[in-house]
Amino acid sequence: MTGAMSGTNRRDPGLNGRSFTAAQSFLLSSKLYWTRKMFPALREKYNGLAAKESTPPESAADVARLIANTPDYQVYAWLERHLQRFKYSGRYGLQAYHDDMREDLLASLDQADLPDGMLTLDPDLEMPRYYKAVDIHQHPGGVWSDEIAGFVYERGARSTTPTMGTRHADLHDRLVMAVDEALESDPTDIFDMACGFGKSTGPFIERYRDAKITGMDLSAPCVKLAAKTAAEAQANNIRYMQGNAFESGFADESFDLVTSTMYLHEMPPPQIEKTIEESARLLRPGGYMAHLDFFRLPDAFTRFIHYGHGRRNNEPFMEPLAEMDLAGLLERNGFKDIRIEPFAEDDGVLDEGYRPWRFPWTLITGVKAA
Ligand SMILES: C[S@@+](CC[C@H](N)C(=O)[O-])C[C@H]1O[C@@H](n2cnc3c(N)ncnc32)[C@H](O)[C@@H]1O
Repeated sequence: MTGAMSGTNRRDPGLNGRSFTAAQSFLLSSKLYWTRKMFPALREKYNGLAAKESTPPESAADVARLIANTPDYQVYAWLERHLQRFKYSGRYGLQAYHDDMREDLLASLDQADLPDGMLTLDPDLEMPRYYKAVDIHQHPGGVWSDEIAGFVYERGARSTTPTMGTRHADLHDRLVMAVDEALESDPTDIFDMACGFGKSTGPFIERYRDAKITGMDLSAPCVKLAAKTAAEAQANNIRYMQGNAFESGFADESFDLVTSTMYLHEMPPPQIEKTIEESARLLRPGGYMAHLDFFRLPDAFTRFIHYGHGRRNNEPFMEPLAEMDLAGLLERNGFKDIRIEPFAEDDGVLDEGYRPWRFPWTLITGVKAA
Protein backbone atom coordinates (compact mmCIF):
# COMPACT_ATOMS: atom_id res chain seq x y z
CA MET A 1 0.00 0.00 0.00
CA THR A 2 1.39 3.43 -0.88
CA GLY A 3 1.70 6.31 1.54
CA ALA A 4 -1.34 7.95 0.02
CA MET A 5 -3.53 4.88 0.50
CA SER A 6 -2.37 4.54 4.09
CA GLY A 7 -3.55 8.05 4.86
CA THR A 8 -0.60 10.39 4.21
CA ASN A 9 -1.99 13.79 3.32
CA ARG A 10 0.43 15.51 0.94
CA ARG A 11 -1.05 18.88 1.85
CA ASP A 12 0.31 18.32 5.35
CA PRO A 13 3.64 16.63 4.79
CA GLY A 14 4.72 14.62 7.76
CA LEU A 15 1.40 14.77 9.53
CA ASN A 16 0.35 11.40 8.15
CA GLY A 17 -3.21 12.50 7.63
CA ARG A 18 -3.55 13.60 11.24
CA SER A 19 -4.89 17.05 10.37
CA PHE A 20 -7.62 15.53 8.25
CA THR A 21 -8.52 13.04 10.95
CA ALA A 22 -8.50 15.72 13.65
CA ALA A 23 -10.64 18.07 11.54
CA GLN A 24 -13.16 15.38 10.74
CA SER A 25 -13.34 14.28 14.36
CA PHE A 26 -13.87 17.92 15.45
CA LEU A 27 -16.61 18.07 12.85
CA LEU A 28 -18.28 14.93 14.14
CA SER A 29 -18.16 16.17 17.74
CA SER A 30 -19.65 19.50 16.65
CA LYS A 31 -22.39 17.68 14.74
CA LEU A 32 -23.16 15.58 17.82
CA TYR A 33 -23.41 18.74 19.95
CA TRP A 34 -25.72 20.24 17.33
CA THR A 35 -27.83 17.07 17.26
CA ARG A 36 -28.05 16.33 20.96
CA LYS A 37 -27.92 19.76 22.57
CA MET A 38 -28.76 22.53 20.11
CA PHE A 39 -31.71 20.84 18.47
CA PRO A 40 -33.54 19.93 21.73
CA ALA A 41 -32.83 23.45 23.06
CA LEU A 42 -34.31 24.96 19.92
CA ARG A 43 -37.39 22.78 20.27
CA GLU A 44 -37.78 23.88 23.90
CA LYS A 45 -37.52 27.50 22.86
CA TYR A 46 -40.11 26.95 20.15
CA ASN A 47 -42.46 25.12 22.55
CA GLY A 48 -42.29 28.10 24.90
CA LEU A 49 -43.12 30.56 22.12
CA ALA A 50 -45.85 28.35 20.66
CA ALA A 51 -47.51 27.99 24.08
CA LYS A 52 -48.09 31.75 24.15
CA GLU A 53 -49.96 31.73 20.80
CA SER A 54 -53.76 31.94 20.87
CA THR A 55 -53.99 29.31 18.09
CA PRO A 56 -51.38 26.54 17.90
CA PRO A 57 -49.01 26.81 14.91
CA GLU A 58 -50.17 24.42 12.21
CA SER A 59 -47.83 24.88 9.28
CA ALA A 60 -44.10 25.28 8.65
CA ALA A 61 -44.83 28.93 7.82
CA ASP A 62 -46.46 29.41 11.27
CA VAL A 63 -43.34 27.98 12.91
CA ALA A 64 -41.11 30.19 10.76
CA ARG A 65 -42.97 33.28 11.99
CA LEU A 66 -42.14 32.29 15.57
CA ILE A 67 -38.50 31.23 15.35
CA ALA A 68 -36.89 31.92 11.97
CA ASN A 69 -35.54 35.29 13.14
CA THR A 70 -34.29 34.15 16.55
CA PRO A 71 -30.52 33.83 17.10
CA ASP A 72 -31.11 30.28 18.41
CA TYR A 73 -32.52 29.15 15.08
CA GLN A 74 -30.08 31.13 12.98
CA VAL A 75 -27.01 29.70 14.73
CA TYR A 76 -28.53 26.22 14.53
CA ALA A 77 -29.20 26.64 10.79
CA TRP A 78 -25.81 28.23 10.05
CA LEU A 79 -24.03 25.35 11.76
CA GLU A 80 -26.06 22.75 9.90
CA ARG A 81 -25.12 24.27 6.55
CA HIS A 82 -21.48 24.91 7.32
CA LEU A 83 -20.59 21.75 9.23
CA GLN A 84 -21.69 19.82 6.16
CA ARG A 85 -19.72 22.16 3.87
CA PHE A 86 -16.68 21.72 6.11
CA LYS A 87 -17.09 17.94 5.91
CA TYR A 88 -16.68 17.89 2.12
CA SER A 89 -14.88 21.08 1.09
CA GLY A 90 -11.84 23.10 2.08
CA ARG A 91 -8.40 22.03 3.13
CA TYR A 92 -9.50 19.28 5.52
CA GLY A 93 -12.61 18.18 3.66
CA LEU A 94 -13.29 14.76 2.19
CA GLN A 95 -12.70 16.01 -1.35
CA ALA A 96 -9.14 17.29 -0.71
CA TYR A 97 -8.29 14.20 1.31
CA HIS A 98 -9.33 11.86 -1.48
CA ASP A 99 -7.81 14.08 -4.19
CA ASP A 100 -4.46 13.35 -2.61
CA MET A 101 -5.05 9.62 -3.11
CA ARG A 102 -6.63 9.93 -6.54
CA GLU A 103 -4.18 7.81 -8.54
CA ASP A 104 -4.21 4.96 -6.06
CA LEU A 105 -7.96 5.01 -5.69
CA LEU A 106 -8.48 4.89 -9.44
CA ALA A 107 -5.91 2.12 -9.80
CA SER A 108 -7.78 0.12 -7.15
CA LEU A 109 -10.95 0.41 -9.26
CA ASP A 110 -9.18 -0.48 -12.50
CA GLN A 111 -7.44 -3.47 -10.95
CA ALA A 112 -10.53 -4.88 -9.25
CA ASP A 113 -10.97 -8.50 -10.29
CA LEU A 114 -14.63 -8.50 -11.29
CA PRO A 115 -16.46 -11.64 -12.42
CA ASP A 116 -18.13 -11.42 -15.84
CA GLY A 117 -21.40 -9.52 -15.73
CA MET A 118 -20.87 -7.99 -12.30
CA LEU A 119 -20.55 -4.44 -13.67
CA THR A 120 -22.20 -2.79 -16.66
CA LEU A 121 -21.45 0.84 -17.43
CA ASP A 122 -23.28 3.09 -19.85
CA PRO A 123 -20.98 5.93 -20.96
CA ASP A 124 -23.78 7.40 -23.12
CA LEU A 125 -26.29 7.56 -20.28
CA GLU A 126 -27.99 10.93 -20.16
CA MET A 127 -28.00 12.36 -16.65
CA PRO A 128 -31.38 13.87 -15.70
CA ARG A 129 -31.40 17.65 -15.32
CA TYR A 130 -32.39 17.52 -11.64
CA TYR A 131 -29.33 15.37 -11.01
CA LYS A 132 -26.81 17.66 -12.70
CA ALA A 133 -28.30 20.91 -11.39
CA VAL A 134 -27.44 20.48 -7.71
CA ASP A 135 -24.37 19.37 -5.76
CA ILE A 136 -26.47 17.00 -3.70
CA HIS A 137 -25.86 17.09 0.05
CA GLN A 138 -23.06 19.60 -0.68
CA HIS A 139 -20.86 16.93 -2.23
CA PRO A 140 -18.71 18.97 -4.69
CA GLY A 141 -19.76 17.90 -8.20
CA GLY A 142 -22.43 15.56 -6.81
CA VAL A 143 -21.86 11.83 -6.32
CA TRP A 144 -21.22 11.23 -10.01
CA SER A 145 -19.09 13.79 -11.88
CA ASP A 146 -15.66 13.00 -10.46
CA GLU A 147 -14.15 9.54 -11.00
CA ILE A 148 -13.38 9.26 -7.28
CA ALA A 149 -16.85 10.42 -6.18
CA GLY A 150 -17.80 6.91 -4.99
CA PHE A 151 -14.96 6.88 -2.46
CA VAL A 152 -15.74 10.40 -1.26
CA TYR A 153 -19.39 9.51 -0.84
CA GLU A 154 -18.59 6.26 0.95
CA ARG A 155 -16.47 8.09 3.49
CA GLY A 156 -19.05 10.85 3.89
CA ALA A 157 -21.89 8.38 4.46
CA ARG A 158 -20.16 7.08 7.57
CA SER A 159 -21.24 10.18 9.47
CA THR A 160 -24.61 10.95 7.84
CA THR A 161 -26.47 10.01 11.00
CA PRO A 162 -23.91 11.11 13.63
CA THR A 163 -25.51 9.53 16.69
CA MET A 164 -25.28 6.11 15.07
CA GLY A 165 -21.55 6.31 14.32
CA THR A 166 -20.38 3.15 12.64
CA ARG A 167 -23.77 1.56 13.38
CA HIS A 168 -25.09 3.58 10.44
CA ALA A 169 -24.91 0.31 8.51
CA ASP A 170 -27.68 -0.92 10.80
CA LEU A 171 -30.15 1.22 8.95
CA HIS A 172 -29.78 -0.90 5.85
CA ASP A 173 -29.81 -4.14 7.84
CA ARG A 174 -33.00 -3.04 9.52
CA LEU A 175 -34.62 -2.45 6.15
CA VAL A 176 -33.80 -5.99 5.07
CA MET A 177 -35.22 -7.31 8.34
CA ALA A 178 -38.43 -5.34 7.85
CA VAL A 179 -38.78 -6.58 4.26
CA ASP A 180 -38.01 -10.12 5.33
CA GLU A 181 -40.75 -10.00 7.96
CA ALA A 182 -43.27 -8.78 5.39
CA LEU A 183 -42.49 -11.46 2.78
CA GLU A 184 -44.02 -14.93 2.85
CA SER A 185 -41.13 -16.47 0.93
CA ASP A 186 -37.65 -15.41 -0.14
CA PRO A 187 -37.59 -13.26 -3.28
CA THR A 188 -35.80 -14.64 -6.33
CA ASP A 189 -35.23 -11.41 -8.29
CA ILE A 190 -34.47 -8.17 -6.44
CA PHE A 191 -33.95 -4.68 -7.81
CA ASP A 192 -32.24 -2.08 -5.60
CA MET A 193 -33.00 1.24 -7.29
CA ALA A 194 -30.33 3.94 -6.84
CA CYS A 195 -27.95 1.61 -5.03
CA GLY A 196 -25.16 4.21 -4.65
CA PHE A 197 -21.87 2.54 -3.75
CA GLY A 198 -23.75 -0.59 -2.68
CA LYS A 199 -24.40 0.12 1.00
CA SER A 200 -28.14 -0.48 0.62
CA THR A 201 -27.62 -3.55 -1.59
CA GLY A 202 -25.09 -5.26 0.68
CA PRO A 203 -27.51 -6.61 3.31
CA PHE A 204 -29.82 -7.96 0.56
CA ILE A 205 -26.82 -9.73 -1.02
CA GLU A 206 -26.05 -11.34 2.33
CA ARG A 207 -29.60 -12.23 3.30
CA TYR A 208 -30.82 -13.61 -0.04
CA ARG A 209 -27.88 -15.69 -1.26
CA ASP A 210 -29.99 -17.59 -3.80
CA ALA A 211 -31.63 -14.54 -5.34
CA LYS A 212 -30.48 -12.67 -8.42
CA ILE A 213 -29.94 -9.09 -7.31
CA THR A 214 -29.53 -5.99 -9.47
CA GLY A 215 -28.28 -2.65 -8.15
CA MET A 216 -28.64 0.33 -10.47
CA ASP A 217 -27.38 3.89 -10.09
CA LEU A 218 -26.79 6.86 -12.37
CA SER A 219 -23.30 7.30 -10.96
CA ALA A 220 -20.52 5.31 -12.64
CA PRO A 221 -18.02 6.01 -9.82
CA CYS A 222 -20.54 4.64 -7.30
CA VAL A 223 -21.44 1.43 -9.15
CA LYS A 224 -17.75 0.78 -9.85
CA LEU A 225 -17.00 0.96 -6.13
CA ALA A 226 -20.08 -1.19 -5.38
CA ALA A 227 -18.86 -3.89 -7.78
CA LYS A 228 -15.33 -3.82 -6.39
CA THR A 229 -16.68 -4.24 -2.85
CA ALA A 230 -18.97 -7.11 -3.91
CA ALA A 231 -16.14 -8.86 -5.77
CA GLU A 232 -13.89 -8.55 -2.72
CA ALA A 233 -16.65 -10.16 -0.65
CA GLN A 234 -16.90 -12.91 -3.29
CA ALA A 235 -20.59 -12.28 -3.85
CA ASN A 236 -22.01 -14.18 -6.81
CA ASN A 237 -25.66 -13.09 -6.67
CA ILE A 238 -25.29 -9.44 -7.67
CA ARG A 239 -24.86 -7.35 -10.81
CA TYR A 240 -24.36 -3.60 -10.65
CA MET A 241 -25.43 -1.41 -13.53
CA GLN A 242 -25.11 2.24 -14.38
CA GLY A 243 -28.57 3.39 -15.39
CA ASN A 244 -31.61 5.48 -14.65
CA ALA A 245 -33.73 3.51 -12.18
CA PHE A 246 -37.06 5.01 -13.28
CA GLU A 247 -36.28 4.13 -16.92
CA SER A 248 -34.50 0.87 -16.17
CA GLY A 249 -35.07 -0.84 -19.52
CA PHE A 250 -35.88 -4.20 -17.90
CA ALA A 251 -38.84 -6.24 -19.16
CA ASP A 252 -42.22 -6.01 -17.39
CA GLU A 253 -42.54 -8.25 -14.33
CA SER A 254 -38.80 -8.96 -14.05
CA PHE A 255 -38.66 -8.79 -10.25
CA ASP A 256 -40.52 -9.91 -7.14
CA LEU A 257 -38.91 -7.30 -4.87
CA VAL A 258 -38.18 -3.68 -5.77
CA THR A 259 -36.52 -1.56 -3.13
CA SER A 260 -34.69 1.74 -2.61
CA THR A 261 -33.07 3.66 0.23
CA MET A 262 -32.78 7.46 0.33
CA TYR A 263 -33.70 7.75 -3.34
CA LEU A 264 -37.18 9.29 -3.66
CA HIS A 265 -36.24 12.56 -1.93
CA GLU A 266 -33.48 13.19 -4.49
CA MET A 267 -35.94 13.81 -7.36
CA PRO A 268 -38.76 16.22 -8.24
CA PRO A 269 -42.33 14.88 -8.04
CA PRO A 270 -42.70 13.93 -11.75
CA GLN A 271 -39.67 11.64 -11.42
CA ILE A 272 -40.99 10.26 -8.12
CA GLU A 273 -44.20 9.40 -9.97
CA LYS A 274 -42.16 7.69 -12.69
CA THR A 275 -40.29 5.72 -10.03
CA ILE A 276 -43.51 4.34 -8.56
CA GLU A 277 -44.83 3.57 -12.08
CA GLU A 278 -41.56 1.80 -12.89
CA SER A 279 -41.71 -0.16 -9.61
CA ALA A 280 -45.22 -1.34 -10.51
CA ARG A 281 -44.24 -2.21 -14.07
CA LEU A 282 -41.20 -4.22 -12.99
CA LEU A 283 -42.94 -6.23 -10.28
CA ARG A 284 -44.68 -9.52 -10.86
CA PRO A 285 -48.24 -9.75 -9.52
CA GLY A 286 -47.95 -10.22 -5.75
CA GLY A 287 -44.46 -8.65 -5.79
CA TYR A 288 -43.36 -6.33 -2.98
CA MET A 289 -42.12 -2.74 -3.15
CA ALA A 290 -40.25 -1.09 -0.28
CA HIS A 291 -38.85 2.45 -0.48
CA LEU A 292 -37.13 3.79 2.64
CA ASP A 293 -37.07 7.58 2.67
CA PHE A 294 -37.97 10.77 4.55
CA PHE A 295 -41.67 11.43 4.56
CA ARG A 296 -43.77 11.30 7.74
CA LEU A 297 -43.52 14.65 9.53
CA PRO A 298 -45.61 14.42 12.67
CA ASP A 299 -45.92 18.12 13.56
CA ALA A 300 -45.42 21.65 12.23
CA PHE A 301 -42.07 22.09 14.00
CA THR A 302 -40.64 18.89 12.45
CA ARG A 303 -41.93 20.04 9.07
CA PHE A 304 -40.26 23.43 9.37
CA ILE A 305 -36.95 21.88 10.48
CA HIS A 306 -37.01 19.25 7.72
CA TYR A 307 -37.79 21.72 4.95
CA GLY A 308 -34.98 23.96 6.19
CA HIS A 309 -32.65 20.97 6.29
CA GLY A 310 -33.43 20.24 2.64
CA ARG A 311 -32.53 23.80 1.64
CA ARG A 312 -29.40 23.96 3.78
CA ASN A 313 -28.10 20.61 2.63
CA ASN A 314 -28.73 21.16 -1.12
CA GLU A 315 -31.58 18.63 -1.16
CA PRO A 316 -34.31 20.74 -2.76
CA PHE A 317 -36.79 17.91 -3.30
CA MET A 318 -37.21 16.90 0.36
CA GLU A 319 -40.07 19.37 0.73
CA PRO A 320 -41.98 18.51 -2.49
CA LEU A 321 -41.75 14.80 -1.62
CA ALA A 322 -43.11 15.40 1.89
CA GLU A 323 -46.05 17.34 0.39
CA MET A 324 -47.03 14.55 -2.02
CA ASP A 325 -49.99 12.21 -1.71
CA LEU A 326 -47.88 9.07 -1.81
CA ALA A 327 -50.66 6.74 -0.70
CA GLY A 328 -52.80 7.99 -3.61
CA LEU A 329 -49.89 7.56 -6.02
CA LEU A 330 -49.35 3.96 -4.91
CA GLU A 331 -53.05 3.23 -5.17
CA ARG A 332 -53.26 4.68 -8.69
CA ASN A 333 -50.40 2.38 -9.69
CA GLY A 334 -52.20 -0.75 -8.58
CA PHE A 335 -50.60 -1.33 -5.18
CA LYS A 336 -52.55 -2.82 -2.29
CA ASP A 337 -51.71 -3.36 1.39
CA ILE A 338 -50.10 0.08 1.28
CA ARG A 339 -48.19 1.07 4.40
CA ILE A 340 -46.42 4.38 4.98
CA GLU A 341 -44.99 4.18 8.45
CA PRO A 342 -42.29 5.75 10.62
CA PHE A 343 -39.16 3.62 10.55
CA ALA A 344 -36.78 3.23 13.50
CA GLU A 345 -33.21 3.47 12.27
CA ASP A 346 -32.00 2.79 15.81
CA ASP A 347 -33.42 1.61 19.12
CA GLY A 348 -35.58 4.12 20.98
CA VAL A 349 -35.73 6.79 18.29
CA LEU A 350 -39.51 6.62 17.98
CA ASP A 351 -40.04 6.88 21.74
CA GLU A 352 -42.08 9.84 23.00
CA GLY A 353 -39.13 11.19 25.00
CA TYR A 354 -36.52 11.01 22.20
CA ARG A 355 -35.14 14.51 21.71
CA PRO A 356 -32.06 14.64 19.39
CA TRP A 357 -32.40 15.66 15.75
CA ARG A 358 -33.03 12.78 13.34
CA PHE A 359 -34.20 12.24 9.80
CA PRO A 360 -37.93 11.45 9.50
CA TRP A 361 -37.29 7.91 8.23
CA THR A 362 -40.39 6.40 6.70
CA LEU A 363 -40.94 2.99 5.13
CA ILE A 364 -43.23 3.09 2.11
CA THR A 365 -44.45 -0.33 1.04
CA GLY A 366 -47.07 -1.95 -1.13
CA VAL A 367 -47.91 -5.23 -2.83
CA LYS A 368 -48.60 -5.31 -6.55
CA ALA A 369 -52.14 -6.52 -6.99
CA ALA A 370 -52.35 -10.01 -8.47
C1 LIG B 1 -28.60 9.21 -0.94
S1 LIG B 1 -27.95 8.14 -2.16
C2 LIG B 1 -28.46 6.56 -1.56
C3 LIG B 1 -27.62 5.43 -2.07
C4 LIG B 1 -27.93 4.06 -1.49
N1 LIG B 1 -29.27 3.65 -1.79
C5 LIG B 1 -27.68 4.02 0.00
O1 LIG B 1 -28.64 3.84 0.77
O2 LIG B 1 -26.52 4.16 0.44
C6 LIG B 1 -29.02 8.42 -3.54
C7 LIG B 1 -28.51 7.78 -4.81
O3 LIG B 1 -29.51 7.97 -5.81
C8 LIG B 1 -28.84 8.00 -7.05
N2 LIG B 1 -29.82 8.44 -8.05
C9 LIG B 1 -30.48 9.62 -8.12
N3 LIG B 1 -31.36 9.60 -9.15
C10 LIG B 1 -31.25 8.38 -9.74
C11 LIG B 1 -31.90 7.75 -10.83
N4 LIG B 1 -32.84 8.37 -11.55
N5 LIG B 1 -31.54 6.49 -11.16
C12 LIG B 1 -30.57 5.85 -10.46
N6 LIG B 1 -29.93 6.39 -9.42
C13 LIG B 1 -30.26 7.65 -9.06
C14 LIG B 1 -27.64 8.86 -6.77
O4 LIG B 1 -26.63 8.70 -7.72
C15 LIG B 1 -27.23 8.35 -5.38
O5 LIG B 1 -26.28 7.33 -5.47
